[in-house]
Amino acid sequence: MANNKALGTGGRKSDKDLKIRVKTAKGRKVASTKWLERQLNDPYVARARSEGYRSRAAFKIKEMDEKHKLFKKGMHVVDLGAAPGGWSQVAAAAVGSTVEKPLVVGIDYLDMDTIPGVILLKKDFTEDDAPAMLIDAMGGHGADVVMSDMAWPTTGHRATDHLRIVHLIEIAADFAIQVLKPGGSFVAKVFQGGTEHELLHMLKRHFSTTFHVKPPSSRKDSAEAYLVAKGFKGRQEPETEL
Ligand SMILES: C[S@@+](CC[C@H](N)C(=O)[O-])C[C@H]1O[C@@H](n2cnc3c(N)ncnc32)[C@H](O)[C@@H]1O
Repeated sequence: MANNKALGTGGRKSDKDLKIRVKTAKGRKVASTKWLERQLNDPYVARARSEGYRSRAAFKIKEMDEKHKLFKKGMHVVDLGAAPGGWSQVAAAAVGSTVEKPLVVGIDYLDMDTIPGVILLKKDFTEDDAPAMLIDAMGGHGADVVMSDMAWPTTGHRATDHLRIVHLIEIAADFAIQVLKPGGSFVAKVFQGGTEHELLHMLKRHFSTTFHVKPPSSRKDSAEAYLVAKGFKGRQEPETEL
């Protein structure tokens, strides 16, 4: 990526480097002012706007694809936690998805504007009927890539937040194992401190390679990281206890 070096800081600048400063306005909290200032000074936000992406997150999946070769033309992709749609846009372009032959299905409980070539479901993925709805939307095709950028809003209670995140990753991984074609890939947002031991162990059994990745566009000061699992081996029998 041409700008990689310049953007190697993950887009985060120290406060003294900020070009645009935002004054605290009446009624705006300090945290919101900081967020606004960071957005206005973030080169990935500017690039997303100029390249027509809905989110700066688009660059994370682009960078992971460049490094790990996730997408090929004609592949079927599922995007969990798709809003506002950056990852779906990148995937749709990479696999050549069209309105006539959509190859990408996304799900989010938030409203999303349509994306050409992407079937979008407005639904909470943790609800029992969500996997069946996704499988139905995939029109009988298995998936080549299941990707999840899902995260709950944090509650501020560390242990609760951790459990909720682990639960999201687990159900995303279970779904991936259910729908992936042999050779397929699974990408999921995890948080530093890594993936839970048991989940990583389970993924290692099902995939030939697993990596933890921190894409350059992921903010350095965020605990976010991604797990990339490649080479799905097909459904495995559960391990028997000896
Ligand atoms: C970081 S954003 C995704 C950004 C997206 N990858 C993009 O490129 O635009 C995370 C999304 O996950 C969604 N999400 C979190 N939990 C979810 C759930 N249980 N079901 C569906 N969507 C969920 C949130 O609503 C949010 O839109």
